[in-house]
Amino acid sequence: MSGNPAYAWMNGEIIPWEDAKVHVRTEGFMRGASVFEGIRAYASPDGRQLYVFKGAEHTDRLFHTSMKILRMQLTWTAEDLIHGMVQLLRANTFHADVHIRPQVYFGMGEDHGFDPARIEVGCVITAVERPAKPSLWNGIHVRVSSWRRIGDETMPPRVKAGANYLNSRYAMMEARLDGYDSAIFLNAHGKVAEGPGACVMIVRHGKVIAPPATAGVLESITKSTLVQLFRSELDVDVVEREIDRTELYVADEVFFCGTGYEVQPIVSVDRYTIGTGEPGSVVKRMQDLYFNIARGQNPKYSQWLRPVYPD
Ligand SMILES: Cc1ncc(COP(=O)(O)O)c(C=O)c1O
Repeated sequence: MSGNPAYAWMNGEIIPWEDAKVHVRTEGFMRGASVFEGIRAYASPDGRQLYVFKGAEHTDRLFHTSMKILRMQLTWTAEDLIHGMVQLLRANTFHADVHIRPQVYFGMGEDHGFDPARIEVGCVITAVERPAKPSLWNGIHVRVSSWRRIGDETMPPRVKAGANYLNSRYAMMEARLDGYDSAIFLNAHGKVAEGPGACVMIVRHGKVIAPPATAGVLESITKSTLVQLFRSELDVDVVEREIDRTELYVADEVFFCGTGYEVQPIVSVDRYTIGTGEPGSVVKRMQDLYFNIARGQNPKYSQWLRPVYPD
């Protein structure tokens, strides 16, 4: 197929993209019994180098949260997967921003489908170029979803499982059909949880406010990164507490953050204009700082980056 990269990584080997296949009877395919990560690699301004951003934190979440809770055991280690990603990006000779997708799935189980020690577990990594969209700078319009976020007592959002994203799909379908770009979920208690594929943060009275890890959310790596950077680099206070729906409407700024959405200003919620209706100054300062670090322009944070090509 044209437009696709040449290679994927599957079960320890770099293989042609077309050969990255699983059987229709795998549990991963039939019942969404898979876990995954979304990771970015950012190109340096001259395009010569590519940096995998916080790869170790992502594989750590994959192994020690998602796989652990689903009792998945894999032949390859976290370091094997990071090495596999670097090999894959090199093999595809990427020199622009890339989105990397490692997936760990339960394979053919038959009678042992629910016995984690006996069902096979596979791993595949794909990566595609993903340039930023203009809306990253202009902002997006979102609605509060009529669907509630899944919860820890039903489908734990802390586990980045394939099946969890059906909940996101309901919210996205509704939002798009109603003319919005995306959605914000409330949790079972009616408090703000997160977006279909990102965390939510608001700015009120000069402080950044984010829902806590117990709000029915994925434990976001971008959120931890931003919390650290707001405090240490931008001298902005961050508070983690419950957020009411109507606080979204009266916030000075609202934004998504996550590997996919990056640092995404939201300019209206349920057609209430946020702030001036343009991306606010706090989110814009964070975008500058974040992308500068991600593109290898700030040596203080070089430990967050894994270079793909030899210098
Ligand atoms: C549901 C959900 N919440 C939050 C996030 C943000 O997580 P991270 O910053 O680790 O990418 C994501 C995205 O990856 C997500 O899918």
